[in-house]
Amino acid sequence: CPSPALGVGPDYRPANEKPTATVSRQVKNQPNVHILPQTPQLIALLTMIRDENTQRADFIFYSNRIIRLLVEEGLNHLPVVPHTVTSPVGKDYTGVRFEGKICGVSIMRAGESMEQGLRECCRSVRIGKILIQRNEETSLPKLFYEKLPPDIKDRWVLLLDPMLATGGSAIMAVEVLKGKGVPEERILFLNLIASPEGIANFLEKVPKVRVITAFVDQGLNDKNYIVPGLGDFGDRFYTL
Ligand code: URA
Repeated sequence: CPSPALGVGPDYRPANEKPTATVSRQVKNQPNVHILPQTPQLIALLTMIRDENTQRADFIFYSNRIIRLLVEEGLNHLPVVPHTVTSPVGKDYTGVRFEGKICGVSIMRAGESMEQGLRECCRSVRIGKILIQRNEETSLPKLFYEKLPPDIKDRWVLLLDPMLATGGSAIMAVEVLKGKGVPEERILFLNLIASPEGIANFLEKVPKVRVITAFVDQGLNDKNYIVPGLGDFGDRFYTL
């Protein structure tokens, strides 16, 4: 079934003056899936990176803006504790501060594109890497390399991969993290575009991981590319 279309534009605009755009599908009965609000800005940024005519420099620039939104949303899922400070005029402000340690883990190669956005929000954050590649013959993902912070089991993990297609690599990455003692509840999986199949597959295997995505697209094609998607994210970010 087609993805929903909605009038997109600032709230003060009358509905008949808002252009109709395709917005993310919602995912029902999955409290661990968090889709970014479908604001005019997000839709405009996604439109830029989906466009086959967008050249690499712009692709990087606009992807980075979406990545930044994802990281900021991801950080909303970390626990906070009460924290009161005194302002320069001598008055108290009752606020909060983050509690707990975090780290990023990127699924190579495309996930590495999200590291900078994480570093911009979390100075000197530790970042681990996992390389998983699909076996051409069996289509099954295989783990080739992992390098993770030694105390990762005590950290919240922001797992980074821009495209959630079949979910195979992401599930394997979560299994690696669980093998190091990280509970599913402490993993936040950040991605730009997800397929409904990928989300369903992922949550069937690792239901307690929180998925934070900018958009749930229509589906997968016969080559397991997300449609309409944006093509190969790693190629467009790094090599094209
Ligand atoms: N990875 C990509 O880069 N694009 C897709 O559409 C699916 C997986």
